[in-house]
Amino acid sequence: MQMAGKALWSGRFEQGMDEGTLHFTSSLDVDSRMAFYDIMGSLAHVRMLKSCKIIPGEDADAITDGLRKLAQELKDGKLEMDYTLEDVHTNIEFKLTSMIGPAGGKLHTGRSRNDQVATDFKMYLRDAGLNCVDAIDRLIASLQDVAKSNRETILPGFTHMQHAQPVTLAQHMLAHAFRLGRDADRFMDALERMNKCPLGSAALAGTTYRIDRKLTSDLLGFRDPTENSMDTVGSRDFVTELAFDASMAAISLSSICEELVLWSSQEFGFVTMDDRYSTGSSIMPQKKNPDICELTRGKTGSIIGSLVTMLVTTKSLPLSYNRDLQEDKRPVMDALQTLTDCANIMAKVVSTMKINDATMMEATKKGFINATDLADYLVTKGIPFREAHGIVGEAVRFCESKGIYLDDLTLEQFKSYSPLIEEDVFSTISVKSCVERRDSYGGTSPASADVQLAISLQELFDRETAVRQKDMLYQKCWELLLTQ
Ligand code: ARG
Repeated sequence: MQMAGKALWSGRFEQGMDEGTLHFTSSLDVDSRMAFYDIMGSLAHVRMLKSCKIIPGEDADAITDGLRKLAQELKDGKLEMDYTLEDVHTNIEFKLTSMIGPAGGKLHTGRSRNDQVATDFKMYLRDAGLNCVDAIDRLIASLQDVAKSNRETILPGFTHMQHAQPVTLAQHMLAHAFRLGRDADRFMDALERMNKCPLGSAALAGTTYRIDRKLTSDLLGFRDPTENSMDTVGSRDFVTELAFDASMAAISLSSICEELVLWSSQEFGFVTMDDRYSTGSSIMPQKKNPDICELTRGKTGSIIGSLVTMLVTTKSLPLSYNRDLQEDKRPVMDALQTLTDCANIMAKVVSTMKINDATMMEATKKGFINATDLADYLVTKGIPFREAHGIVGEAVRFCESKGIYLDDLTLEQFKSYSPLIEEDVFSTISVKSCVERRDSYGGTSPASADVQLAISLQELFDRETAVRQKDMLYQKCWELLLTQ
Protein backbone atom coordinates (compact mmCIF):
# COMPACT_ATOMS: atom_id res chain seq x y z
CA MET A 1 0.00 0.00 0.00
CA GLN A 2 1.30 3.40 -0.93
CA MET A 3 2.05 5.83 1.87
CA ALA A 4 2.02 9.55 1.35
CA GLY A 5 4.50 12.13 2.68
CA LYS A 6 4.52 13.44 6.20
CA ALA A 7 1.91 15.89 7.43
CA LEU A 8 2.68 18.98 9.53
CA TRP A 9 1.39 17.14 12.57
CA SER A 10 3.22 13.89 11.85
CA GLY A 11 5.45 13.86 14.97
CA ARG A 12 3.53 11.26 16.96
CA PHE A 13 2.91 8.98 13.98
CA GLU A 14 5.13 6.14 12.91
CA GLN A 15 3.81 6.06 9.39
CA GLY A 16 2.32 8.51 6.94
CA MET A 17 -1.35 8.45 6.02
CA ASP A 18 -2.76 5.99 3.55
CA GLU A 19 -3.34 7.58 0.14
CA GLY A 20 -7.09 6.97 0.49
CA THR A 21 -7.12 8.65 3.90
CA LEU A 22 -5.42 11.66 2.38
CA HIS A 23 -8.01 11.89 -0.34
CA PHE A 24 -10.84 11.40 2.10
CA THR A 25 -9.70 13.97 4.63
CA SER A 26 -8.40 16.67 2.28
CA SER A 27 -10.58 19.74 2.03
CA LEU A 28 -8.36 21.65 -0.32
CA ASP A 29 -10.74 21.52 -3.27
CA VAL A 30 -13.17 23.63 -1.28
CA ASP A 31 -11.18 25.60 1.25
CA SER A 32 -8.63 26.80 -1.30
CA ARG A 33 -11.33 29.38 -2.06
CA MET A 34 -10.39 30.92 1.28
CA ALA A 35 -6.67 31.24 0.47
CA PHE A 36 -6.73 35.04 0.39
CA TYR A 37 -8.40 35.26 3.79
CA ASP A 38 -6.02 32.67 5.20
CA ILE A 39 -3.04 34.80 4.19
CA MET A 40 -4.65 37.95 5.60
CA GLY A 41 -5.40 36.15 8.86
CA SER A 42 -1.78 35.04 9.09
CA LEU A 43 -0.51 38.53 8.34
CA ALA A 44 -2.63 39.90 11.19
CA HIS A 45 -1.54 37.09 13.50
CA VAL A 46 2.17 37.57 12.88
CA ARG A 47 1.84 41.32 13.30
CA MET A 48 0.29 40.68 16.68
CA LEU A 49 2.98 38.11 17.64
CA LYS A 50 5.61 40.71 16.85
CA SER A 51 3.86 43.53 18.66
CA CYS A 52 3.41 41.33 21.75
CA LYS A 53 7.05 40.23 21.47
CA ILE A 54 6.04 36.58 21.34
CA ILE A 55 8.36 35.90 18.40
CA PRO A 56 11.52 37.84 17.43
CA GLY A 57 10.95 40.86 15.21
CA GLU A 58 13.20 39.64 12.42
CA ASP A 59 11.34 36.32 12.20
CA ALA A 60 8.03 38.17 12.12
CA ASP A 61 9.35 40.38 9.33
CA ALA A 62 10.50 37.39 7.32
CA ILE A 63 7.11 35.74 7.77
CA THR A 64 5.34 38.94 6.73
CA ASP A 65 7.48 39.26 3.59
CA GLY A 66 6.86 35.64 2.72
CA LEU A 67 3.11 35.89 3.24
CA ARG A 68 2.96 39.01 1.09
CA LYS A 69 4.79 37.17 -1.68
CA LEU A 70 2.27 34.35 -1.39
CA ALA A 71 -0.55 36.89 -1.62
CA GLN A 72 0.99 38.19 -4.84
CA GLU A 73 1.37 34.66 -6.22
CA LEU A 74 -2.26 34.01 -5.41
CA LYS A 75 -3.32 37.21 -7.17
CA ASP A 76 -1.28 36.22 -10.22
CA GLY A 77 -2.86 32.78 -10.23
CA LYS A 78 0.51 31.16 -9.53
CA LEU A 79 -0.07 29.78 -6.05
CA GLU A 80 -0.21 26.05 -6.52
CA MET A 81 -1.40 23.86 -3.71
CA ASP A 82 -1.14 20.19 -2.97
CA TYR A 83 -4.07 18.14 -1.71
CA THR A 84 -1.76 15.81 0.18
CA LEU A 85 -1.20 18.73 2.54
CA GLU A 86 -4.81 18.38 3.64
CA ASP A 87 -6.15 21.89 3.56
CA VAL A 88 -5.50 25.49 2.64
CA HIS A 89 -4.07 26.34 6.04
CA THR A 90 -1.35 23.71 5.99
CA ASN A 91 -0.62 24.44 2.35
CA ILE A 92 0.07 28.08 3.01
CA GLU A 93 2.15 27.40 6.09
CA PHE A 94 4.11 24.81 4.14
CA LYS A 95 4.67 27.21 1.24
CA LEU A 96 5.82 29.88 3.64
CA THR A 97 8.30 27.63 5.38
CA SER A 98 9.65 26.35 2.06
CA MET A 99 10.17 29.96 1.05
CA ILE A 100 11.68 31.52 4.18
CA GLY A 101 13.01 28.53 6.12
CA PRO A 102 12.43 27.48 9.74
CA ALA A 103 11.25 30.95 10.83
CA GLY A 104 8.01 30.08 9.01
CA GLY A 105 7.39 27.51 11.70
CA LYS A 106 6.90 30.31 14.23
CA LEU A 107 3.75 31.59 12.54
CA HIS A 108 1.57 28.96 14.15
CA THR A 109 2.44 30.13 17.68
CA GLY A 110 -0.64 30.74 19.81
CA ARG A 111 -3.15 29.65 17.22
CA SER A 112 -4.60 26.46 15.81
CA ARG A 113 -6.25 25.52 12.57
CA ASN A 114 -9.48 25.44 14.54
CA ASP A 115 -9.56 29.17 15.19
CA GLN A 116 -7.87 29.77 11.85
CA VAL A 117 -10.60 28.05 9.85
CA ALA A 118 -13.38 29.83 11.74
CA THR A 119 -11.68 33.17 11.09
CA ASP A 120 -11.08 32.48 7.40
CA PHE A 121 -14.62 31.29 6.89
CA LYS A 122 -16.12 34.33 8.60
CA MET A 123 -14.07 36.63 6.40
CA TYR A 124 -15.03 34.67 3.29
CA LEU A 125 -18.70 34.66 4.25
CA ARG A 126 -18.93 38.32 5.09
CA ASP A 127 -17.75 39.13 1.55
CA ALA A 128 -20.01 36.50 0.02
CA GLY A 129 -22.89 37.81 2.15
CA LEU A 130 -22.27 41.37 0.98
CA ASN A 131 -22.28 40.10 -2.61
CA CYS A 132 -25.71 38.60 -1.97
CA VAL A 133 -26.95 41.89 -0.56
CA ASP A 134 -25.52 43.73 -3.56
CA ALA A 135 -27.26 41.43 -6.01
CA ILE A 136 -30.57 41.53 -4.14
CA ASP A 137 -30.34 45.32 -4.10
CA ARG A 138 -29.77 45.35 -7.83
CA LEU A 139 -32.99 43.42 -8.29
CA ILE A 140 -34.80 45.76 -5.91
CA ALA A 141 -33.61 48.72 -7.99
CA SER A 142 -35.00 47.08 -11.15
CA LEU A 143 -38.36 46.51 -9.46
CA GLN A 144 -38.37 50.14 -8.30
CA ASP A 145 -37.73 51.29 -11.87
CA VAL A 146 -40.67 49.28 -13.17
CA ALA A 147 -42.79 50.72 -10.34
CA LYS A 148 -41.70 54.26 -11.18
CA SER A 149 -42.75 54.00 -14.81
CA ASN A 150 -45.98 52.13 -14.02
CA ARG A 151 -47.67 54.15 -11.30
CA GLU A 152 -50.93 54.09 -13.27
CA THR A 153 -50.65 50.70 -14.94
CA ILE A 154 -53.49 48.57 -13.65
CA LEU A 155 -53.67 44.79 -13.50
CA PRO A 156 -55.72 42.27 -11.58
CA GLY A 157 -54.54 41.66 -8.05
CA PHE A 158 -54.89 37.99 -7.10
CA THR A 159 -55.74 36.02 -4.02
CA HIS A 160 -55.96 32.23 -4.38
CA MET A 161 -54.82 32.94 -7.98
CA GLN A 162 -58.33 34.31 -8.60
CA HIS A 163 -59.02 37.89 -9.62
CA ALA A 164 -59.51 39.77 -6.36
CA GLN A 165 -59.17 43.54 -6.70
CA PRO A 166 -57.41 45.71 -9.26
CA VAL A 167 -53.95 46.94 -8.27
CA THR A 168 -51.28 49.16 -9.74
CA LEU A 169 -48.25 47.51 -11.20
CA ALA A 170 -46.24 49.95 -9.10
CA GLN A 171 -47.62 48.45 -5.92
CA HIS A 172 -47.19 44.90 -7.18
CA MET A 173 -43.52 45.47 -8.00
CA LEU A 174 -42.94 47.21 -4.68
CA ALA A 175 -44.49 44.28 -2.83
CA HIS A 176 -41.60 42.20 -4.13
CA ALA A 177 -39.14 45.00 -3.44
CA PHE A 178 -40.10 45.27 0.24
CA ARG A 179 -39.93 41.53 0.74
CA LEU A 180 -36.50 41.39 -0.87
CA GLY A 181 -35.47 44.38 1.23
CA ARG A 182 -36.13 42.34 4.36
CA ASP A 183 -34.13 39.48 2.86
CA ALA A 184 -31.18 41.80 2.31
CA ASP A 185 -31.55 43.29 5.80
CA ARG A 186 -31.54 39.80 7.24
CA PHE A 187 -28.11 39.24 5.70
CA MET A 188 -26.90 42.53 7.15
CA ASP A 189 -28.18 41.55 10.60
CA ALA A 190 -26.46 38.17 10.41
CA LEU A 191 -23.21 39.78 9.28
CA GLU A 192 -23.38 42.07 12.29
CA ARG A 193 -24.05 39.17 14.66
CA MET A 194 -21.04 37.23 13.36
CA ASN A 195 -18.81 40.28 13.42
CA LYS A 196 -16.46 38.87 16.08
CA CYS A 197 -13.02 37.51 15.46
CA PRO A 198 -12.25 33.86 16.36
CA LEU A 199 -8.48 34.20 15.99
CA GLY A 200 -6.57 33.48 19.20
CA SER A 201 -9.14 31.00 20.51
CA ALA A 202 -6.51 28.45 19.45
CA ALA A 203 -7.48 24.77 19.53
CA LEU A 204 -10.30 25.20 22.05
CA ALA A 205 -9.02 26.51 25.36
CA GLY A 206 -7.19 29.69 24.46
CA THR A 207 -3.42 29.99 24.82
CA THR A 208 -0.68 30.50 27.37
CA TYR A 209 0.99 33.19 25.27
CA ARG A 210 0.24 36.84 26.08
CA ILE A 211 -1.56 37.42 22.83
CA ASP A 212 -3.61 40.52 21.95
CA ARG A 213 -6.85 39.34 20.45
CA LYS A 214 -8.26 42.83 20.16
CA LEU A 215 -5.37 43.73 17.87
CA THR A 216 -5.92 40.85 15.43
CA SER A 217 -9.65 41.50 15.51
CA ASP A 218 -9.08 45.16 14.57
CA LEU A 219 -6.55 44.29 11.89
CA LEU A 220 -9.03 41.96 10.22
CA GLY A 221 -11.94 44.40 10.38
CA PHE A 222 -13.98 42.66 13.08
CA ARG A 223 -15.84 44.57 15.78
CA ASP A 224 -14.46 42.54 18.71
CA PRO A 225 -12.84 39.21 19.50
CA THR A 226 -15.24 36.34 20.28
CA GLU A 227 -15.87 35.87 23.99
CA ASN A 228 -15.43 32.12 24.54
CA SER A 229 -12.81 30.01 22.83
CA MET A 230 -14.74 26.72 23.05
CA ASP A 231 -17.88 28.25 21.61
CA THR A 232 -15.76 29.86 18.91
CA VAL A 233 -14.16 26.74 17.51
CA GLY A 234 -17.21 24.54 18.03
CA SER A 235 -20.05 26.67 16.65
CA ARG A 236 -21.19 27.27 13.13
CA ASP A 237 -24.49 29.02 13.74
CA PHE A 238 -23.23 31.96 11.69
CA VAL A 239 -22.97 29.63 8.70
CA THR A 240 -26.41 28.14 9.27
CA GLU A 241 -27.91 31.58 9.68
CA LEU A 242 -26.53 32.72 6.35
CA ALA A 243 -27.83 29.54 4.74
CA PHE A 244 -31.24 30.42 6.13
CA ASP A 245 -30.97 33.98 4.88
CA ALA A 246 -30.03 32.69 1.44
CA SER A 247 -32.95 30.24 1.52
CA MET A 248 -35.41 32.95 2.46
CA ALA A 249 -34.14 35.23 -0.30
CA ALA A 250 -34.27 32.36 -2.78
CA ILE A 251 -37.88 31.74 -1.82
CA SER A 252 -38.66 35.40 -2.52
CA LEU A 253 -36.92 35.11 -5.88
CA SER A 254 -38.84 31.95 -6.67
CA SER A 255 -42.14 33.78 -6.14
CA ILE A 256 -41.14 36.49 -8.59
CA CYS A 257 -40.01 33.85 -11.05
CA GLU A 258 -43.20 31.85 -10.73
CA GLU A 259 -45.22 34.96 -11.50
CA LEU A 260 -43.10 35.91 -14.46
CA VAL A 261 -43.38 32.41 -15.89
CA LEU A 262 -47.17 32.79 -15.66
CA TRP A 263 -47.21 36.40 -16.81
CA SER A 264 -45.17 35.62 -19.92
CA SER A 265 -47.45 32.71 -20.88
CA GLN A 266 -49.97 32.97 -23.70
CA GLU A 267 -52.75 32.75 -21.11
CA PHE A 268 -51.64 35.91 -19.32
CA GLY A 269 -49.49 37.84 -21.78
CA PHE A 270 -48.81 40.50 -19.14
CA VAL A 271 -45.10 40.73 -19.96
CA THR A 272 -42.84 39.86 -22.85
CA MET A 273 -39.35 38.71 -21.96
CA ASP A 274 -36.43 40.35 -23.68
CA ASP A 275 -34.80 38.08 -26.27
CA ARG A 276 -31.46 38.36 -24.47
CA TYR A 277 -32.98 36.75 -21.40
CA SER A 278 -35.04 34.04 -23.08
CA THR A 279 -34.30 30.72 -24.69
CA GLY A 280 -35.74 28.76 -27.59
CA SER A 281 -36.67 25.16 -28.24
CA SER A 282 -34.62 22.71 -30.28
CA ILE A 283 -37.75 21.35 -31.91
CA MET A 284 -40.55 23.93 -31.70
CA PRO A 285 -39.53 26.92 -33.79
CA GLN A 286 -42.07 29.30 -32.27
CA LYS A 287 -40.97 28.85 -28.67
CA LYS A 288 -39.61 31.59 -26.45
CA ASN A 289 -39.15 30.23 -22.98
CA PRO A 290 -38.61 31.98 -19.64
CA ASP A 291 -35.76 29.63 -18.69
CA ILE A 292 -33.96 32.12 -16.48
CA CYS A 293 -36.99 32.39 -14.24
CA GLU A 294 -37.45 28.64 -14.22
CA LEU A 295 -33.80 27.98 -13.41
CA THR A 296 -33.82 30.54 -10.63
CA ARG A 297 -36.98 28.95 -9.27
CA GLY A 298 -35.29 25.55 -9.53
CA LYS A 299 -32.04 26.60 -7.90
CA THR A 300 -34.01 27.46 -4.77
CA GLY A 301 -33.87 23.73 -4.11
CA SER A 302 -30.11 23.49 -3.70
CA ILE A 303 -30.01 26.70 -1.65
CA ILE A 304 -32.55 25.32 0.80
CA GLY A 305 -30.52 22.11 0.68
CA SER A 306 -27.54 24.00 2.11
CA LEU A 307 -29.62 25.02 5.10
CA VAL A 308 -30.76 21.48 5.73
CA THR A 309 -27.17 20.27 5.37
CA MET A 310 -25.98 22.75 7.99
CA LEU A 311 -28.75 21.92 10.42
CA VAL A 312 -28.21 18.20 10.16
CA THR A 313 -24.41 18.36 10.09
CA THR A 314 -24.20 20.38 13.29
CA LYS A 315 -27.03 18.71 15.19
CA SER A 316 -25.83 16.97 18.38
CA LEU A 317 -22.17 17.84 17.89
CA PRO A 318 -20.51 17.93 21.29
CA LEU A 319 -18.18 20.81 22.10
CA SER A 320 -15.88 21.84 20.77
CA TYR A 321 -14.23 21.39 17.34
CA ASN A 322 -15.16 18.21 15.49
CA ARG A 323 -13.97 17.32 12.04
CA ASP A 324 -17.60 17.20 10.91
CA LEU A 325 -17.28 20.96 10.76
CA GLN A 326 -15.11 20.67 7.68
CA GLU A 327 -18.31 19.80 5.81
CA ASP A 328 -19.80 23.26 6.39
CA LYS A 329 -18.13 25.06 3.53
CA ARG A 330 -19.10 23.74 0.14
CA PRO A 331 -22.90 23.88 0.56
CA VAL A 332 -23.04 27.38 1.93
CA MET A 333 -20.32 28.80 -0.31
CA ASP A 334 -22.21 27.40 -3.29
CA ALA A 335 -25.57 28.59 -1.98
CA LEU A 336 -24.40 32.17 -1.56
CA GLN A 337 -22.84 32.17 -5.01
CA THR A 338 -25.98 30.69 -6.55
CA LEU A 339 -28.17 33.27 -4.85
CA THR A 340 -25.90 36.08 -6.05
CA ASP A 341 -26.00 34.79 -9.63
CA CYS A 342 -29.79 34.36 -9.52
CA ALA A 343 -30.50 37.82 -8.12
CA ASN A 344 -28.07 39.48 -10.54
CA ILE A 345 -29.61 37.91 -13.60
CA MET A 346 -33.18 38.43 -12.37
CA ALA A 347 -32.37 42.13 -12.03
CA LYS A 348 -31.70 42.11 -15.77
CA VAL A 349 -34.78 40.04 -16.59
CA VAL A 350 -36.99 42.49 -14.70
CA SER A 351 -35.39 45.64 -16.09
CA THR A 352 -35.62 44.45 -19.71
CA MET A 353 -39.03 42.79 -19.81
CA LYS A 354 -41.75 44.59 -21.76
CA ILE A 355 -44.88 45.47 -19.79
CA ASN A 356 -48.03 44.81 -21.80
CA ASP A 357 -50.18 47.34 -19.99
CA ALA A 358 -53.15 47.07 -22.36
CA THR A 359 -53.32 43.30 -21.78
CA MET A 360 -53.13 43.82 -18.03
CA MET A 361 -55.95 46.35 -18.16
CA GLU A 362 -58.04 44.09 -20.40
CA ALA A 363 -57.65 41.29 -17.85
CA THR A 364 -59.18 43.42 -15.10
CA LYS A 365 -62.51 43.17 -16.93
CA LYS A 366 -62.76 39.52 -15.97
CA GLY A 367 -63.62 38.11 -12.59
CA PHE A 368 -65.90 40.85 -11.21
CA ILE A 369 -62.82 42.49 -9.82
CA ASN A 370 -64.76 45.62 -8.81
CA ALA A 371 -67.38 43.78 -6.72
CA THR A 372 -65.88 45.00 -3.42
CA ASP A 373 -66.12 48.54 -4.72
CA LEU A 374 -69.80 48.14 -5.53
CA ALA A 375 -70.37 46.87 -1.99
CA ASP A 376 -68.35 49.81 -0.59
CA TYR A 377 -70.51 52.11 -2.74
CA LEU A 378 -73.66 50.72 -1.13
CA VAL A 379 -72.09 51.25 2.30
CA THR A 380 -71.63 54.95 1.48
CA LYS A 381 -75.39 55.00 0.84
CA GLY A 382 -76.00 53.75 4.37
CA ILE A 383 -76.36 50.00 3.79
CA PRO A 384 -74.47 47.81 6.32
CA PHE A 385 -71.47 46.13 4.69
CA ARG A 386 -72.72 42.58 5.32
CA GLU A 387 -76.00 43.36 3.57
CA ALA A 388 -74.18 45.13 0.74
CA HIS A 389 -72.00 42.04 0.33
CA GLY A 390 -75.15 39.93 -0.19
CA ILE A 391 -76.69 42.36 -2.68
CA VAL A 392 -73.54 42.47 -4.81
CA GLY A 393 -73.25 38.70 -4.64
CA GLU A 394 -76.69 38.43 -6.20
CA ALA A 395 -75.78 40.95 -8.89
CA VAL A 396 -72.64 38.96 -9.68
CA ARG A 397 -74.69 35.77 -9.97
CA PHE A 398 -77.06 37.49 -12.39
CA CYS A 399 -74.22 38.88 -14.53
CA GLU A 400 -72.52 35.51 -14.62
CA SER A 401 -75.70 33.86 -15.90
CA LYS A 402 -75.95 36.49 -18.64
CA GLY A 403 -72.22 36.47 -19.48
CA ILE A 404 -71.84 40.17 -18.70
CA TYR A 405 -69.83 42.29 -16.22
CA LEU A 406 -71.08 44.50 -13.39
CA ASP A 407 -70.21 47.56 -15.47
CA ASP A 408 -72.58 46.33 -18.21
CA LEU A 409 -75.67 46.57 -15.97
CA THR A 410 -78.06 49.42 -16.76
CA LEU A 411 -78.96 51.89 -14.04
CA GLU A 412 -82.42 50.31 -14.01
CA GLN A 413 -80.96 46.86 -13.39
CA PHE A 414 -78.74 48.29 -10.64
CA LYS A 415 -81.76 49.87 -9.02
CA SER A 416 -83.51 46.51 -8.94
CA TYR A 417 -80.81 45.46 -6.45
CA SER A 418 -81.02 48.68 -4.48
CA PRO A 419 -83.02 51.83 -5.18
CA LEU A 420 -80.20 53.78 -3.53
CA ILE A 421 -77.92 53.21 -6.52
CA GLU A 422 -77.47 56.30 -8.70
CA GLU A 423 -75.74 57.25 -11.94
CA ASP A 424 -72.44 57.81 -10.06
CA VAL A 425 -72.14 54.05 -9.60
CA PHE A 426 -70.55 53.74 -13.04
CA SER A 427 -67.65 56.09 -12.35
CA THR A 428 -67.24 54.68 -8.83
CA ILE A 429 -66.82 51.07 -9.89
CA SER A 430 -64.60 51.79 -12.88
CA VAL A 431 -61.35 49.93 -12.41
CA LYS A 432 -59.38 53.17 -12.49
CA SER A 433 -61.48 54.61 -9.70
CA CYS A 434 -61.21 51.37 -7.69
CA VAL A 435 -57.47 51.78 -7.74
CA GLU A 436 -57.32 55.52 -7.19
CA ARG A 437 -59.64 55.43 -4.21
CA ARG A 438 -57.54 52.82 -2.41
CA ASP A 439 -55.26 55.50 -1.06
CA SER A 440 -54.95 54.19 2.50
CA TYR A 441 -51.39 53.98 3.83
CA GLY A 442 -49.81 51.01 2.05
CA GLY A 443 -52.72 50.83 -0.38
CA THR A 444 -52.57 50.41 -4.12
CA SER A 445 -53.43 53.90 -5.39
CA PRO A 446 -50.74 55.68 -7.40
CA ALA A 447 -50.42 58.21 -4.58
CA SER A 448 -49.98 55.47 -1.94
CA ALA A 449 -47.52 53.65 -4.16
CA ASP A 450 -45.53 56.89 -4.51
CA VAL A 451 -45.07 56.91 -0.73
CA GLN A 452 -43.99 53.28 -0.82
CA LEU A 453 -41.51 53.97 -3.59
CA ALA A 454 -39.96 56.82 -1.61
CA ILE A 455 -39.55 54.58 1.44
CA SER A 456 -38.15 51.74 -0.62
CA LEU A 457 -35.63 54.05 -2.30
CA GLN A 458 -34.49 55.38 1.07
CA GLU A 459 -34.08 51.86 2.48
CA LEU A 460 -32.06 50.86 -0.55
CA PHE A 461 -29.84 53.91 -0.25
CA ASP A 462 -29.20 53.28 3.45
CA ARG A 463 -28.31 49.67 2.86
CA GLU A 464 -26.05 50.43 -0.07
CA THR A 465 -24.23 52.95 2.12
CA ALA A 466 -23.78 50.36 4.88
CA VAL A 467 -22.46 47.82 2.38
CA ARG A 468 -20.02 50.32 0.92
CA GLN A 469 -18.73 51.23 4.40
CA LYS A 470 -18.05 47.59 5.20
CA ASP A 471 -16.34 47.06 1.86
CA MET A 472 -14.14 50.09 2.41
CA LEU A 473 -13.18 48.92 5.89
CA TYR A 474 -12.10 45.51 4.58
CA GLN A 475 -10.14 47.01 1.69
CA LYS A 476 -8.34 49.27 4.14
CA CYS A 477 -7.47 46.27 6.34
CA TRP A 478 -6.02 44.36 3.39
CA GLU A 479 -4.05 47.33 2.22
CA LEU A 480 -2.54 47.85 5.63
CA LEU A 481 -1.67 44.19 6.07
CA LEU A 482 -0.12 43.99 2.62
CA THR A 483 1.91 47.18 2.66
CA GLN A 484 2.63 48.60 6.10
N1 ARG B 1 -9.73 21.57 7.35
C1 ARG B 1 -10.24 21.75 8.67
C2 ARG B 1 -11.67 22.29 8.61
O1 ARG B 1 -12.05 22.76 7.56
C3 ARG B 1 -9.39 22.72 9.41
C4 ARG B 1 -9.35 22.48 10.86
C5 ARG B 1 -8.64 21.20 11.11
N2 ARG B 1 -8.51 20.96 12.52
C6 ARG B 1 -8.26 19.77 12.97
N3 ARG B 1 -8.20 19.65 14.24
N4 ARG B 1 -8.06 18.74 12.19
O2 ARG B 1 -12.39 22.26 9.56
